[in-house]
Amino acid sequence: QKLIAEELPGTQVIAVSNREPYIHNKTEDGASLQIPASGLVTALEPVMRACGGTWIAHGSGTADRETVDSDDRIPVPPDEPSYTLRRVWLTEEEQDGYYYGMANEGLWPLCHISFVRPSFRESNWSIYQQVNERFADAVAAEARAPDPIVLVQDYHFATLPAMIRKRLPRATIITFWHIPWPNSETFGICPWREEIIRGLLGSSILGFHTRFHCNNFLETVDRFIESRIDRENASVTLEEHESLIRPYPISIDWPPAAMKGQKPVEDCRRIVRERLGIGQNTRIAIGVERFDYTKGVLDRMHAVDDFLTRHPEWIGRFVLVQVAAPTRTKLESYRRLQEEAIELAGLINEKHGDGSYQPIMLIIRHHEPREVFELFRGADICVVSSLHDGMNLVAKEFVAARDDDQGVLILSQFAGASRELAAALLINPYDSYGTAEIFQQALTMPEEQQRERMQLMRAQVRERNVYRWAAQMLVDASRLRNHQRILDLA
Ligand code: G6P
Repeated sequence: QKLIAEELPGTQVIAVSNREPYIHNKTEDGASLQIPASGLVTALEPVMRACGGTWIAHGSGTADRETVDSDDRIPVPPDEPSYTLRRVWLTEEEQDGYYYGMANEGLWPLCHISFVRPSFRESNWSIYQQVNERFADAVAAEARAPDPIVLVQDYHFATLPAMIRKRLPRATIITFWHIPWPNSETFGICPWREEIIRGLLGSSILGFHTRFHCNNFLETVDRFIESRIDRENASVTLEEHESLIRPYPISIDWPPAAMKGQKPVEDCRRIVRERLGIGQNTRIAIGVERFDYTKGVLDRMHAVDDFLTRHPEWIGRFVLVQVAAPTRTKLESYRRLQEEAIELAGLINEKHGDGSYQPIMLIIRHHEPREVFELFRGADICVVSSLHDGMNLVAKEFVAARDDDQGVLILSQFAGASRELAAALLINPYDSYGTAEIFQQALTMPEEQQRERMQLMRAQVRERNVYRWAAQMLVDASRLRNHQRILDLA
């Protein structure tokens, strides 16, 4: 945190993301505050608290549209204001084209190689670009000096960096792509691959979670754009402008804010079981995600089915508690997943359960971070079975929640997090049989081994926390900025 403050004396930081960190919804007696389920928000929020500055995002709540002042700027966090949230309000048509259409039916399945066929419609693409222009205007309106540091977040804004560069040629633009970047052949099916690459190359620095994704991006540039690529330095020069391509593995704050006031693990175990109506001696595996087809929720349920079939001694003594927050439900692929999950859980419960015992407990609603951490502390196992995932912060949060050094993390080898958390039990989520055996290994793992693995993972997350993620980007940015200033003098 200190590093961040020291790196940025007098520098204005402007962050841009689609999702806002605080959603205000209308209720009968005023407004309620919601912290959205988003890896991006989890990571960026503590950084913005440390940096100050402005966070520009799409206003998504139902309460504020009428209550915020005319230019939609409010101080946040509500309890301890330390930065400004500027909301850009989008029409339904803009939302449909830019967010649902281009971002979530096009780029999301494209980049996750998730076997959900990406759909590319010209009308969505054109609205996507218009919305990106609106955010570029908001950045320009917020800029107090010609050279702020702008943090552009994610696949909703592939064309924004070049648009900001046009308005603020001297800005230091750091773009972070929170999802995977696929290989060039896969990315190449996107009809606007060149425009997207050119847009991103407006950045001074373009960041991905892993070096693998950086290399995929460089390959894609090489294949589709006329530019100069310096592989050793991992940079691309397009029309005299150089962009650095860098891996910055994202993380969480340490200790996480959601740990404040948590009861001892023993109490959490009891409270969670009481609340869910699960026997005190039953083992719990917990899964927490947005209800998204990239997270492998169905695959995890199939693995539970296989596990109980092969190890029936666990029937009645093991429950998968699956917390799933509804997300992007306007899209058919997401609604269908929800229906399939409910149906599959029902079938498995019928097969292995009875009146009083259900091996899969599916809880479909949003949970606030504090509730999620209590569940983590009450569980024996956490399962992250993403089919493909940029990083996955749930894995890191589980580790951070276990200050008792106990608990087993089962983690997909296709999540970026598996590179850092190699002490987890790694799975191939497509291999249900293999995953079932890992459940058995997790449930019989001696305490001493749990401790060793957990301590290794905790050291990793503590050390490579989100302040380190931000500090590395900001150090690189401020070096570039100084270099630019020297060039300007000459
Ligand atoms: C992923 C994306 C984020 C997004 C989050 C939640 O983590 O990388 O950009 O905010 O999912 O999705 P939503 O569509 O609800 O914002």
